[in-house]
Amino acid sequence: MTQDELKQATARAAVEYVPAGIIGVGTGSTANYFIDELARIKGRIDGAVASSEATAQRLKSHGIPVLDLNSAGELAVYVDGADEITEHMHMIKGGGGALTREKIVAACSRKFVCIADGTKLVGMLGKFPLPVEVIPMAQSHVARQLVKLGGQPVLRQGFTTDNGNVILDVHGLKIMNPVELESEINQITGVVTNGLFARRPADVLLLGTGEGVKMLTGD
Ligand code: 5RP
Repeated sequence: MTQDELKQATARAAVEYVPAGIIGVGTGSTANYFIDELARIKGRIDGAVASSEATAQRLKSHGIPVLDLNSAGELAVYVDGADEITEHMHMIKGGGGALTREKIVAACSRKFVCIADGTKLVGMLGKFPLPVEVIPMAQSHVARQLVKLGGQPVLRQGFTTDNGNVILDVHGLKIMNPVELESEINQITGVVTNGLFARRPADVLLLGTGEGVKMLTGD
């Protein structure tokens, strides 16, 4: 199976986790496959909260109502992809630049269902450059602090987030303690969010493999 077919298979499996009501929907190519699957059962839900403008557009194109998070309250489920994930359900996210809204919607959700092809499962996070969303005037300051933490930050050229900020992709980090590093980076003045999702990890991983979709939990 190709990587895209594996993403599609996990997206299809995630439909089983969709309850009635309002759900949260992530961003990226795997999340896009999930939105396409969601369209088939859209009568089951009242609508979705989107983690990016791109996701909102795709949901609307399928006739799925897009709802405001502040009116939606707590969500039962959030479904999203990841750039890397460990067996402890810690993730790096933000390859698509939507990390801040993704983290907000995840924080408001009782269950985080991560959908990913098998290449995303890693022993240690950090081979994928860690995205950090930064207020533009703080870019140089934040970059200097990230160097002190052992990383090599690179400005994502020509990219502005949905929130009007820039992204530094931090290379070369060997992330032994993702919970601690997530907090440490968030303490740097000018950082909006970083792409470590460890303090609020996934609850379930649906992993697309050649032998089918495997369900993993952090327990
Ligand atoms: C976007 C994300 C995505 O979930 C992550 O980049 C994975 O993307 P894809 O499903 O295209 O491999 O965090 O900000």
